[in-house]
Amino acid sequence: MAISSYDRMSELKAFDDTKTGVKGLVDSGITKVPQIFILPPKYRAETCETHFVFPVIDLQGIDEDPIKHKEIVDKVRDASETWGFFQVVNHGIPTSILDKTLQGTRQFFEQDNEVKKEYYTRENGKKVIYMSNFDLYRPCVPAASWRDSLFCFMAPNPPTPQEFPAVCGEILMDFSKDVTKLGCSLLELLSEGLGLDRCHLNDMDCAKGLSILGSYYPSCPQPELTMGTIQHSDGDFITVLLQDEIGGLQVLHQNQWVNVPPIPGALIVNIGDFLQLMSNDKYISVEHRVIANKDVSRMSVACFFGDNVQSSKLYGPITELLSEDNPPKYRATAVKDYWSYIYNKGLDGTSALLRYKI
Ligand code: OGA
Ligand code: NI
Repeated sequence: MAISSYDRMSELKAFDDTKTGVKGLVDSGITKVPQIFILPPKYRAETCETHFVFPVIDLQGIDEDPIKHKEIVDKVRDASETWGFFQVVNHGIPTSILDKTLQGTRQFFEQDNEVKKEYYTRENGKKVIYMSNFDLYRPCVPAASWRDSLFCFMAPNPPTPQEFPAVCGEILMDFSKDVTKLGCSLLELLSEGLGLDRCHLNDMDCAKGLSILGSYYPSCPQPELTMGTIQHSDGDFITVLLQDEIGGLQVLHQNQWVNVPPIPGALIVNIGDFLQLMSNDKYISVEHRVIANKDVSRMSVACFFGDNVQSSKLYGPITELLSEDNPPKYRATAVKDYWSYIYNKGLDGTSALLRYKI
């Protein structure tokens, strides 16, 4: 046991020291998935259910017609209660911005290694971080995931132009402005869906902090042995996710894994742990994962809305929603504590929410 865990540590370290991530392994011509990425069978992908229809919500006309508005609020509420996930179309962000965001972040990963390596770090405090597997060394993580990441803390204090990589800084700033507007509109709909004042969640600073995570999923010689991203739920208020046309994202619905089909121009929205906690389980933060792909690389850009990650303001179940029949199911927690708990735990296949359950 001691010897094998020592070997694992040195393999992890050797991988980390390359500073070229999973893409570096694939570029070097490997034909087998290295041991550190091999998942125990219970975490691997089996067949996936296809008869469910994943919810797609058209936001066209949302502010023009009160009847239309109410219909959209109902759809958002239904999807957030039953799936914890939905896609939106006609959301107001031009397709050209979405395409450039995917292109720019892809270019970051596909640029010259020497330039890219400059951004590779596990140091806290940087606003732009390139790395593979933030939880690489955590003991409870069943295996490393087949993905490389570019993490940018965009709000409340965005990186300076000098801190950004040249290939994607400008487009990430543009995308971030647009996605923040969309995030605020979604939080309005979600507030109304809970029967609260439209501004309730925005007034609680649910879109004050924004982190953007560009994920590059290289092609994989043995996709059945590993996972692009191991199953997890998101530890934020809401996530808005942009995926390219390849597909691979799956959500756990009625105990079955369901594909989230790529739709050109659409964005995926999901409820994070904090909103499940604040809504006292009315909205659900659902487990999802990304399967690895044999032939092609995939790109996604996730926008995590949360309070400032440094904030110690406490969030608990929203008082207006509680009653004798609906007592609080969670104790209050701060975004800062929650994130550091997830960060130290890593993606180990269990939900961080359980820790706060009363
Ligand atoms: C995440 C995530 C999904 C994807 O980064 O939290 O779930 O499609 N990403 O990359
Ligand atoms: Ni996620």
